Amino acid sequence: MAERPYVIDELISAKAIAARIEELSDAIKEDFAGTEKLVVVGLLRGSFVFIADLVRELDLPVEVDFLEASSYEDGMESSREVRILKDLRGQIEGRDVLVVEDIVDTGYTLDHVLHLLESRNPRKLRTIALLDKPSRRETGVKADWTGFEIPDEFVVGYGIDFAQRNRNLPFIGCVRFVEPG
Ligand code: IMP
Ligand code: MG
Repeated sequence: MAERPYVIDELISAKAIAARIEELSDAIKEDFAGTEKLVVVGLLRGSFVFIADLVRELDLPVEVDFLEASSYEDGMESSREVRILKDLRGQIEGRDVLVVEDIVDTGYTLDHVLHLLESRNPRKLRTIALLDKPSRRETGVKADWTGFEIPDEFVVGYGIDFAQRNRNLPFIGCVRFVEPG
């Protein structure tokens, strides 16, 4: 894909993200109170910054595992065909599990991952998504907790990429294409 010039307009500040994570972690701690072990499953790669901040707010016995599913091939549109590129290292049967996703867009990724993990018989399975674009949904899936509902904009930052770039921005911004020159 040819590089079209774009700018990034801030949508959610780093401060607002941190404040929301504190609220979300309170709800998660309440829901999983008394757990023997909570397996926090990050969906690679977009959730890596979110999961890092989230687990540091959870004073629960936590283990971290990762799963990589792919439906975007460096573009801006979901292929609607979800493939598992990297599976969990650990077993989740009989475990408390929290799936951490960056964005729920069409919902195909989360839907696919939840069906897969359900089939492994966890004790309890919950999901959290930092961002949700409800207007884009094509499946019935909904995360148990959502950080922010956003409009139908392509966003980057805080772990989220556009063609693998901009994951290191501390805030979340919208990609806006500009005419060259
Ligand atoms: P879904 O399967 O359509 O729900 O897509 C979910 C995945 O697509 C997310 O985990 C992201 O990796 C990616 N995605 C969806 N919207 C955006 C966006 O605005 N920017 C970057 N990646 C996105
Ligand atoms: Mg993703």
